[in-house]
Amino acid sequence: MNNPDLTRAPETPLPLPDPLYLRRSGTSLLIDFRTGEPALLHFGADLGPALPDLSLLGDPVPHSALDIPVTLGLIPQASSGWRGRPGLRGHRNGLAFSARLRVSAVERSSGTDCSAVITQADPTAGVTVRTEVRINDGGLLQLRHRLDNNGTDPYGVEELAAVLPVGRAATEILDLTGRWCRESHPQRMPLGQGTWVRSGRHGRTGHDASLLLAAGTPGFGNRHGQVWAVHLGWSGNHESFVDAAPDGRTVIGASELLGSGEITLAANTGYETPWLFAAYSAEGLDGISDAFYAWFRQRPHHPGAESGKARPVVLNVWEAVYFDHRMPVLLELAESAARLGVERYVLDDGWFRGRRHDGAGLGDWYVDEDLWPEGLSPLIDAVTGHGMEFGLWVEPEMVNEDSDLARAHPGWIAGPAPRPSSDGGPAGRLPERWRHQQVLDLVNPEAWQYIFDRLDALLRENNIAYLKWDQNRDLGEMGHAGRPSVHDQTRAVYRLLDELRKAHPGVEIESCSSGGARVDLGILERTDRIWGSDCNDALERQTIQRWTGIVVPPELVGSHIGPTRSHTTARTHDLSFRAITAMFGHFGLEWDVRHLDDSERTELAAAIALFKEYRSLLHTGRMVRADESDPALRLHGVVSHDGGEALFALVSVATSFAEVPGRIAVPGLLPDAVYRVEAVYPAPDDRRAFLQAVPPAWLAAGVEATGRFLAGSGLPMPVLNPEHGLLLTARRVTAAGPTPAGGRAVRSS
Ligand code: GLA
Repeated sequence: MNNPDLTRAPETPLPLPDPLYLRRSGTSLLIDFRTGEPALLHFGADLGPALPDLSLLGDPVPHSALDIPVTLGLIPQASSGWRGRPGLRGHRNGLAFSARLRVSAVERSSGTDCSAVITQADPTAGVTVRTEVRINDGGLLQLRHRLDNNGTDPYGVEELAAVLPVGRAATEILDLTGRWCRESHPQRMPLGQGTWVRSGRHGRTGHDASLLLAAGTPGFGNRHGQVWAVHLGWSGNHESFVDAAPDGRTVIGASELLGSGEITLAANTGYETPWLFAAYSAEGLDGISDAFYAWFRQRPHHPGAESGKARPVVLNVWEAVYFDHRMPVLLELAESAARLGVERYVLDDGWFRGRRHDGAGLGDWYVDEDLWPEGLSPLIDAVTGHGMEFGLWVEPEMVNEDSDLARAHPGWIAGPAPRPSSDGGPAGRLPERWRHQQVLDLVNPEAWQYIFDRLDALLRENNIAYLKWDQNRDLGEMGHAGRPSVHDQTRAVYRLLDELRKAHPGVEIESCSSGGARVDLGILERTDRIWGSDCNDALERQTIQRWTGIVVPPELVGSHIGPTRSHTTARTHDLSFRAITAMFGHFGLEWDVRHLDDSERTELAAAIALFKEYRSLLHTGRMVRADESDPALRLHGVVSHDGGEALFALVSVATSFAEVPGRIAVPGLLPDAVYRVEAVYPAPDDRRAFLQAVPPAWLAAGVEATGRFLAGSGLPMPVLNPEHGLLLTARRVTAAGPTPAGGRAVRSS
């Protein structure tokens, strides 16, 4: 490739590297180096194998502007004229505030690995940035930077962002927000000029975290429109943003949100950003899910049917007993659960020393001798004797001031002021309590080691297959030795999880954070599922799971059938609706199943059996969501990768505006294959679920139709009562063409 004549000679020694063009699974990234800087030219659709002469395709220079075209760099910089959000903010005691990074090396992967490492340096500012980028099989792009201080004096990092360009066709933004018991709700807005920023200052990911920030073409939906989406794999403070510059370019990106003075690099030390995950889809949000799901499922340790062990059906005792731990009740619960078909029994909060309520005990990770004079073994033996695994709740990052631990080590409580690391009594101001608790300073090596040793001992001394790892407060004024420490605390938590997993490789870990306040790919790299929400109300869960599920596949999202009357909303729902909702997740129960009447017991056992029948499909297939026209009705499903079978749920979340739902698309099947579609749950004549005088005939008889017909015309649906659901199966009865309708094959590359 020829280097163009530049009005200003590049600082990078010639010859400049050839453009970097990564292509995989329908997605591509194009970076050009002709200005000496890695210029982000394209992220999005695959542009095909041949590139034109890029030297002819530089941007024009407008009036009242820099005399050279402004480069959108891999690290957008003011030194190249970029006036949007800078990629790097840092300084040396107020000096060296504006870096001029220029490429010094490009290492390209060979073989099938679609990746590269780009190094940029500014010798004057004394910094080097090394960027790893790769496109995974399935199309998910990953990018992170590492900045090194090559100078002799300290370099303070205020922000190092990862960004990608968005196509000009994008005119709308979509992201998620929420609160406790209402996580992952979407919000949409037009994309105007300026910056849309979502900041998370919770010290944890946050109930309101935007799991996904997307920009797309007008009205992009589940199965249509172009979408560019990012997620930051980080469980601490963070920002994600869309930055639409006055020159017409738009970037989408994210960064760790650093506290004042939080990252000050001594000479020859570095700072590494979290991974930015990015996906592009030409076919709406379902294509974004395809890319994320493929990435999750390729991980060697991914739990689920494909990696051998199916996800066990869970009973969590929290909403059945809360803090009231009595052996006869817990044993009876275990027996009832086993008879229903439960495979994993989880003892929640309340088992450790002094923990009779949520005001005391956190930190004292010893089995309470008064409650459990013989330890946990009698319960564990009963549970395993019934053929179930045993799981235990812990909240290792927290401490109650009313605990032996806090009394012995007051200096281990994190706060904004320096606190003694020895037992010198409390010093400095403590943050406000949250659920009566404080944060344990895990940056303190002694505190970290104490927690590791306690958890390690519990896992060694008891037959525990699963930990529900909770985290129930914002970190607030998080400090270690008087400096902000969310970054170091987050890394310390990751290390704790990593070390425990290494020591106990067979133990699964769930990440819970007052429900879904820590759902991100950083925590999911070292845990086996997330608790999507403390809300077990099936209606709320429909929205929470749908949107959490854009990024996280269902086998990783805990979803439990709660009692008829929801404990968090007081709504009542039919068992069929609760079960159909829980099936599209890691299915479980959170209900006092000792007191079911006969019909409930029979129906619940049948629902569990039904889940088991479809679990392998649900936990390995493609998630598809119809583009609905009636906001009261939603249809989603999971289609096997070979297109052979699918399970769909039609769900009514409100009363419908029309008398009858009409034909609703059943998408995602092989267009030319014929499928037999049948209703499986509830029965067509179930008066609880349906309001119709006369059902559509196919409901009782089943119907055969092509995938093309089912996606294009759809089926006339029955009149569901509001807040009810209907489960449908589709099984291929003839052979057909090779690719699923309207979607790229997830595993192609
Ligand atoms: C948090 C969790 C709940 C439960 C309680 C126990 O709120 O989200 O599921 O474990 O803690 O205290």
